[in-house]
Amino acid sequence: MNSHAPQAIVVLAAGAGTRMKSAVPKVLHPICGRSLLMHAVTAAAGLDPERLVVVVRHERDQVVEHLAEHAAFVRVADQDEIPGTGRAVQCGLEQVDAETGTVVVTYGDVPLLDAATLERLVAEHEGTHSAVTVLTARIPDPTGYGRILRDEAGEQVLGIVEHKDADEAQRAIDEVNSGIYAFDLAVLRSALSRIGTDNAQGEMYLTDVLAIAREDGGSVRALVTDDPVLVEGANDRVQLAQLGAEMRRRINERHMRAGVTIIDPDTTWIDADVTIGQDAVIEPGVQLQGATDIAGEAVIGPDSTLRDTVVGRGAHVVRTQALLAEIGEEATVGPYTYLRPGTVLGARGKIGGFCETKNAQIGDGAKVPHLSYVGDAEIGEGTNIGAATIFANYDGVNKHRTKVGRHVRVGSDSVLVAPVEIGDGAATGAGTVVRKDVPPGALAVNASGQRNVEGWTQRRREGTAAAEAAREALERAASGDATDASEMDTTHGEQETR
Ligand code: UD1
Ligand code: CA
Repeated sequence: MNSHAPQAIVVLAAGAGTRMKSAVPKVLHPICGRSLLMHAVTAAAGLDPERLVVVVRHERDQVVEHLAEHAAFVRVADQDEIPGTGRAVQCGLEQVDAETGTVVVTYGDVPLLDAATLERLVAEHEGTHSAVTVLTARIPDPTGYGRILRDEAGEQVLGIVEHKDADEAQRAIDEVNSGIYAFDLAVLRSALSRIGTDNAQGEMYLTDVLAIAREDGGSVRALVTDDPVLVEGANDRVQLAQLGAEMRRRINERHMRAGVTIIDPDTTWIDADVTIGQDAVIEPGVQLQGATDIAGEAVIGPDSTLRDTVVGRGAHVVRTQALLAEIGEEATVGPYTYLRPGTVLGARGKIGGFCETKNAQIGDGAKVPHLSYVGDAEIGEGTNIGAATIFANYDGVNKHRTKVGRHVRVGSDSVLVAPVEIGDGAATGAGTVVRKDVPPGALAVNASGQRNVEGWTQRRREGTAAAEAAREALERAASGDATDASEMDTTHGEQETR
């Protein structure tokens, strides 16, 4: 149990967010792989509160569904038609049974706020036995924010005045309310029952609680953050992109400080939940998304996008698009490679250039080096799949599986028509269409026989450079030149001359 675990955290997410101009509720817009709301919920959950409540109203069904999917432990509170942050918190507290303890209030649209900052706020609040502690920031342009009114000594906060209700002198104050607070629960409940809507916006202001708590004789203090971006909200898509860029920069910095080499942080996009081991190298132009997990000493990129993909120690992944794939230790993937869900590549295995794989378990040391499609397949260890082999898994109605055993050599340009099985140690000739199972150790061949029509080019392409080249070669051969056409290498694949 966290020593400063608060009784409850209430995350406000009922507002309309009209400036986003979106059918998607503002708090569900993502940055760095998580919704704004899930950033807020993750920070809150980091304090291990007894109860975590999210207050909803605008597009509540979408927000509630999102929470059920990503944070089922959260309690949802519905705000009624009475507007304002004060009413929102009052509705949130209906989900809190306790009478005493600390309650933290945060916003669902403030994505950079982290658990460490909230912990400091709670520690400061409880350490000073305050009724309220508000997190504040000093910013160059305080327009629009609530202003912090301090007493002469500057120790106590007398209240907060909203921009729209403030006079000239108050508007000159550059210390603003972040909207994030720690409250004594009993004080909060009591003060909320006494606030009205007599203000410029006709709303129940949560900020009015501070003056009431002060008048009741409680200590009301402010904790000034030296990092104002932590408390910045995203109100439109410009701010969303700016906060996204800032979060990205911080995520990259966190990984670099933990021992990951990022060659070009400006072109490296790493989602919040990605994990990367020490001495991994991230080349330029890489996006690591979702729950991707990169082991130490792996090299990713340049130019790769990996989502929910696991990469083993020392693997190399270059110019690859991967989704829900697993790449084994010291395996190599790419360039120009597409790994689709269910691809599992064993240790020291290879999926090379211009290959696509899906739902394919490829054994340790097995190789799919060039230009192949491998779908719905199992490939045993040490097997080599020749260039341009296609696993024909789809008959137009159903998908079928192909099983290729251990240490098999599939010849170039083979088509494996599923369902089919190739036994351990078997082989196929180049250009084989495998429709029947191949027993262990057998060589399967069925490429149609080759017939050479002698002199075809000279007769049918008379006067071309090709005809001239053929004539010269045959003349040289006839005069006993070293490069004898009839001795050319024909060992690639199975051939016969008819
Ligand atoms: C609020 C503060 C202001 C502070 C600013 C920081 C009040 C009265 N004012 O102003 O002092 O400087 O935040 O950004 O609290 N919300 C609800 N239900 C509502 C209204 C709002 O859940 O009825 C939620 C919103 O979804 C949002 C947050 O509360 O997450 C803040 O709402 P917003 O309307 O942006 O507050 P401001 O007027 O900007
Ligand atoms: Ca706001």
